[in-house]
Amino acid sequence: DSRRRPTFTDRPSGSSESVDSTGASGFDAMRERLAADHHRPRYHFAGPANWINDPNGLIQYRGTYHLFYQYNPGGPYHGTIHWGHAVSDDLVHWRDEPVALAPDIDGPDRDGCWSGCAVVDDDGVPTILYTGGRDHHQLPCLATTSDPMLRSWDKAPDNPIIEATPDDLDILGTDDWAAEFRDHAVWKVGDNWYQLIGSAVAHEGGVALLYRSADLRDWEFVGPLLGGTEGHGTVWECPELLSFGEFDLLHVSNYEDVRYFVGRADLDAPDFEVETEGRLDYGDFYAPQSTVDDRGRTLTWGWVKESRGVHSQWHAGWSGLMSLPRELSVDETGTLHQRPVSELTSLRGHHVADADRVLDGGDHTDLPLSGNAYELVFDVAVEDGATFELGLFESPARSERTVVRYDGDRIVVDRDASSHSHDVDRGPRSMPVEGDTLSLRIFVDCSVVELFANETRCLTTRVYPTRADADGVSLAARGGSVEVARLDAWELDAAFEARRRET
Ligand code: FRU
Repeated sequence: DSRRRPTFTDRPSGSSESVDSTGASGFDAMRERLAADHHRPRYHFAGPANWINDPNGLIQYRGTYHLFYQYNPGGPYHGTIHWGHAVSDDLVHWRDEPVALAPDIDGPDRDGCWSGCAVVDDDGVPTILYTGGRDHHQLPCLATTSDPMLRSWDKAPDNPIIEATPDDLDILGTDDWAAEFRDHAVWKVGDNWYQLIGSAVAHEGGVALLYRSADLRDWEFVGPLLGGTEGHGTVWECPELLSFGEFDLLHVSNYEDVRYFVGRADLDAPDFEVETEGRLDYGDFYAPQSTVDDRGRTLTWGWVKESRGVHSQWHAGWSGLMSLPRELSVDETGTLHQRPVSELTSLRGHHVADADRVLDGGDHTDLPLSGNAYELVFDVAVEDGATFELGLFESPARSERTVVRYDGDRIVVDRDASSHSHDVDRGPRSMPVEGDTLSLRIFVDCSVVELFANETRCLTTRVYPTRADADGVSLAARGGSVEVARLDAWELDAAFEARRRET
């Protein structure tokens, strides 16, 4: 389990200097200290140091995008969780803000401020709903602010705002928790606020529980919106309901991955009629959350987990990062589309292009790109029996390399030779793709490979080349010919890092 707390013996020597790991000024020093780590992403958001997991409280408020996130200031493991905070004007450059929520020794959130959301209430007051953890209980808490920068929050005196799980359901308990009951997604329809909470019914499986309220404070349990669906996991975390015209999309995280259901939600019954389902991402992407911005876009971020052991995380001094923001939509046939937000094109620097190239079986060619942070776009078609191979993070002698393979039916990210380290997961990640040609967009960022196929399916994963100069990129065809109708590659804009420091 990547959330195991490291023991004292995992701690590398010389890492005991203390910095303020909750205030924004301390964050600059922490980022500076990790700057030489060649696994630290350069354009994906990572915490200043220490542990991060789920995105929380996503909201565009007075024009500024706010990203809160699960943060343990105590170290790179899942400990006493606070809400970290970063802001952006353009979804590309992020600035650290001080920690927004911290557990209260006397409060129902003493053991952690877990995942939740942010909305603006009927009086225009920014309001957070999050899970407070104390002893064996997880219960919803509320906080508000009058700060236009959303920096400091006042917790409601009568937290928790829901005092117990629904009576009429046998909510699953464990040794750790009296009841699995956490994570909050809130939205408004007509005069009513609705809330989904992630939970589990004993012997049935994960469930998304629906609540209704007139004022965000008094909540009435409506019923399970969806749950107990065969093969979808014993506990559901971070449920979210998004609406796209005629269709609704419900997604849940089930410890393994993120499942989505497209169909229609009936909030009165309540019921969710499922038409299609799938996985939001086929890699190491978890607990996503979304917000609708002032351009009407549904923007979604997920937690990109580590694929290395706790010892390596402890040694690195940081763990976890955010995916790129992606725009979700569902078309009139009920098909989900996922695109990286258009603002990300501003990261494009030095450009390498090619078109209409045919690689015969056995052909191999290096791409003249430098650095280990770049974007690639391909349109590829393979003949029957042929495989397109894209080599990433290749060391000079190619003893380390990560290979993205496409055979017409599947994309595989082969991590078998991705690192000489013994403490990394080398298992492959793969996903099915449909259609005769593949349009592939890949964001490579130091230890992150985030892949969008045909703007529908995504696969985000991690690799840890041991050497910083393992930055070669190559193309090859195996077992037949491959047509690369389009190839564009952009190194990360050289000015980006400098601009990032200024903001
Ligand atoms: C999902 C999750 C949530 C919980 C939070 C705790 O990754 O387990 O269910 O609120 O993380 O950090």
